[in-house]
Amino acid sequence: MARGRAIRHEHALLRFPLGQEHRETPSKFTLSIDIGGTGIKMLVLDPNGKPVNERLRWLTPQPASPRPVLDVIIQMLATMPRFDRVSVGFPGVVSHGVVHTAPNLDKDSWPGFEVGQELERATRVPVRVINDADLQGYGVIEGRGVELVLTLGTGLGAALFVNGHLVPNLELGHHPFKKGKTYEERVCDAEFRRLGKKEWSERVGEMLDQLAPIFNYDVLHLGGGNAEHVKVALPPNVHLFDNVDGMTGGIRLWDDL
Ligand code: BGC
Repeated sequence: MARGRAIRHEHALLRFPLGQEHRETPSKFTLSIDIGGTGIKMLVLDPNGKPVNERLRWLTPQPASPRPVLDVIIQMLATMPRFDRVSVGFPGVVSHGVVHTAPNLDKDSWPGFEVGQELERATRVPVRVINDADLQGYGVIEGRGVELVLTLGTGLGAALFVNGHLVPNLELGHHPFKKGKTYEERVCDAEFRRLGKKEWSERVGEMLDQLAPIFNYDVLHLGGGNAEHVKVALPPNVHLFDNVDGMTGGIRLWDDL
């Protein structure tokens, strides 16, 4: 595949009907990378989307500007089994391989950065980049009805799927919620640490009570590093998932849906 092509067509997956785009052969191994505000995670998926190695996690360098983040990724790559292509979940708005926002990284240094192209240069394989919650969602959705995905980590990620089709870059975390604060400001990791499990969990419960009658989803998939700390009772249509499950979404970026 020609350099850059994969990046330019990242959302062609969503725009082109089946058959109009080149289909990837299904025999490839995919490196799935999750860039987070606190940790950078990666693992390799076999052609069926099953992890072939244990997830590796290194701390995100601070300040998390593009070069140091790429340097960490490149060092981590050296420990990975063979892969033929790379899928990246980025913690901000990404469109056509270009970063628009990165609220939980060194935010002013990312807009305009062609993260996918830089990684193609480093790995010499095709790279596709989407929002981190979108990628995680691909790993856990059932593909039927309305599915909302929320990730509780450094920030609050959100992804919306309708019959398996993604509505990209849903930035719900930055919507005003309560007491002059956004959803993200109320349930982010910094608040989890400040408030402790009980009070923070109640806030997560309030957020879900607010969102359920707005999105009317069939299923809510709740993940991210802090999902395991949610202590309030959750409705039966809430499905908890872990980061490794989410990262298997890396394989779906190469399906021409
Ligand atoms: C960003 C989202 C991202 C989320 C989780 C938010 O601050 O705006 O794009 O998905 O953090 O990383």
